[in-house]
Amino acid sequence: MEKTLVLIKPDGVQRGLVGEIIGRFERVGLKLVAMKMVHASHDDVDKHYALTEEWMKAVYDKAKAKYEANGQPFPYPDHIAYGTEIKRGLVDFLKSSPIIALVLEGEMAVSLVRKLVGSTEPASSAPGTIRGDLSHDTYALSNTQNRPLRNLIHASGNVEEANNEIKVWFTDTELYKYEHVNDRVQYDPAWFMS
Ligand code: PPS
Repeated sequence: MEKTLVLIKPDGVQRGLVGEIIGRFERVGLKLVAMKMVHASHDDVDKHYALTEEWMKAVYDKAKAKYEANGQPFPYPDHIAYGTEIKRGLVDFLKSSPIIALVLEGEMAVSLVRKLVGSTEPASSAPGTIRGDLSHDTYALSNTQNRPLRNLIHASGNVEEANNEIKVWFTDTELYKYEHVNDRVQYDPAWFMS
């Protein structure tokens, strides 16, 4: 069964949205297998956001596309400079105040969680998603203020990323095994057989 990592960022904790956010993951049927509150160190966050050229290019391209869709010129010429600056801001943001780290388990957990979280920019994230319902920050405002998006949550982007990120925040013994109702009702093929 897939596992995925979620971080509730300082804005989610400070706004008192932890219960609301975790409740959404519980309601869809995901199993919570690890959770902790942590005041992250520079090293934790630095390891979490691996600064690869691929990551910088993806961050740059997504932000640029959003500016252009809004008819605004994207004022940053270079994905390396933009990505490095975004990572620096993210590291400072995530270590500024306590965050919640959790691991969720379930069929297609990685993509399911990303769907519930919504897209990167809260203001254009769909209603019904966590970011769309609970926040409204924009790329333009965050870049003008020279700070990262206050988008409440990080969620792993794919299975490989999830496996690496889980190791940054949890040891193997902190990942719990227990019986959840969905181990029967959702996943046990014999459960509804009389
Ligand atoms: S996401 O949330 O994974 O869909 O985000 P992604 O587009 O891959 O962006 C990578 C992280 O950068 C964060 N971020 C920003 N990107 C571009 N421009 C600005 N201003 C910006 N501020 C923050 C974005 O939230 C992603 O971090 P995480 O922690 O994954 O949300």
